[in-house]
Amino acid sequence: MSKVTVTDLKTKKEAGERITMLTAYDYPMAKAIDEAGIDIILVGDSLGMVVLGYDDTLAVTIGDMIHHTKAVNRGVKDALVVTDMPFMSYKTGDISQTVKNAGRIIKESGAQAVKVEGGSEVVAEIEAVVKAGIPVMGHLGLTPQSINQFGGFKVQGKESEAAQKLITDAKALEEAGIFALVLECIPAVLTKEVTEAVEVPTIGIGAGKESDGQVLVTQDLLGIFANFTPKFVRKYADLNDEIKTALKDYKKDVETGEFPSQKESF
Ligand code: KIV
Ligand code: NA
Repeated sequence: MSKVTVTDLKTKKEAGERITMLTAYDYPMAKAIDEAGIDIILVGDSLGMVVLGYDDTLAVTIGDMIHHTKAVNRGVKDALVVTDMPFMSYKTGDISQTVKNAGRIIKESGAQAVKVEGGSEVVAEIEAVVKAGIPVMGHLGLTPQSINQFGGFKVQGKESEAAQKLITDAKALEEAGIFALVLECIPAVLTKEVTEAVEVPTIGIGAGKESDGQVLVTQDLLGIFANFTPKFVRKYADLNDEIKTALKDYKKDVETGEFPSQKESF
């Protein structure tokens, strides 16, 4: 494989090939994901929940995103690296500050693109960031930075008015210059409509199979983050259980004098 670029993704959509994306927040996981041949690594602000232990994504800072993206980047050869712009680093009404924040993330972290949440309300900012030469990924549906407006992590776009708005937003984002669009927690039928309505690739999470690609939080699919598992997650492993078993075995071996053995000693 060679380095995945934003233009490769559109080529994939046109060829009917599925796009794969997973999140990473550190070097070893990024390296494993890259070596598995996943197209896109997202340094998501889910960082706040699955790594930093917050209840939501709101407290994550630009500094946090840069710190973790740098670690991710050291493990990546081929995957396209996208970093989330955290809450309040855009949509503040100060477009030039948004461009500076996006620029700082790219320059200091080495990511190739940024992701922002939202529809028509964020179009002017996306246009400005794209104009600065920074590729932008969009994100519609359940946008976790707006959790306090949604009143919880709930499926979005169920009513026909909300569905219509989501399609209008998707077109507006495409017009603004996004290279791909994440659709989170929306009905599968709406995903199909959006995916047909735009030329940019759609990447779904909890959005059915009709998107051009899929993304999951790696800690969910590996069963590392055990606080809760959303309905849309398929657990490909239960590492939290395995880790706890290993740790208890270690404790037992130390306490009984079973570890270290002669072979493990100098
Ligand atoms: O932060 C994140 O992990 C995300 C994905 C769920 C799309 O935004
Ligand atoms: Na995110």
